[in-house]
Amino acid sequence: MELFDSHSHYNDEKFKDDLDEIIKSTYDSGVTTLMCIGYNVESSKKAIEISNKYDFIYVACGISPNDIEQASLDDLKEIEEMARNNSKVLAIGEIGLDYYWEKDEEKRKIQKEFFKKQIELANDLDLPIVIHTRDAYIDTINILKEFPCKNTGIFHCCPLNNELIKDGVKLGYYISFSGVITFKNSKPEQAVLNVPIDKILIETDSPYLAPEPYRGSRNDSTKVIEVARKLSEIHKISLEEMCEITCNNARKVYKLTKDI
Ligand code: NI
Repeated sequence: MELFDSHSHYNDEKFKDDLDEIIKSTYDSGVTTLMCIGYNVESSKKAIEISNKYDFIYVACGISPNDIEQASLDDLKEIEEMARNNSKVLAIGEIGLDYYWEKDEEKRKIQKEFFKKQIELANDLDLPIVIHTRDAYIDTINILKEFPCKNTGIFHCCPLNNELIKDGVKLGYYISFSGVITFKNSKPEQAVLNVPIDKILIETDSPYLAPEPYRGSRNDSTKVIEVARKLSEIHKISLEEMCEITCNNARKVYKLTKDI
């Protein structure tokens, strides 16, 4: 059984002491492809370094809405350079809007600017995007309509918002679920069933959002199977089938189909 973790952050500080060990155990557990996602220049560089060491790790680089305050337009140039010159960069991300953490209207405007510019960059480089959106459903969809990404992309750790999911799917985007759907208080059924089966992805968002029964601990890709398990229960199909489906979907959106 193969798994594809469509979103992780092994470039995070929390892995600095045992990165090699964790990555090895991840591969041994059946995760045969994983995406390491950047959120600023530094973490994007680090993600590329990691991907150069491991064949099965690929990268997205970008500036996330929560890292924009420390970022400049020069940083976007650096992201462009990185993405242009490294064949393991498969997407621009994570990018988007976060109104949960940012309440200031002026700063939200800057988030929108960075989002649009990075969609443009993805289009220049013929890449999909990885979207982070929180409490910003309307603006996110409006930007995607006005500034379409021609390769579409992924709503990562997608909020369980039926409207957002319907609109996102209508625009051709993939929907990625994380450990959140396994939490005891979460009711993901309707949201999950709103996603066509050929648009569903799984992710850990490691080191965050460890699924049940590991909730609260540092997350890593060996646990992504719990997300697949929950999805298979909701869809009433076998775990093996769900792993295969999400693997194929991830290869498709990240355009890995010809390499594998
Ligand atoms: Ni993330």
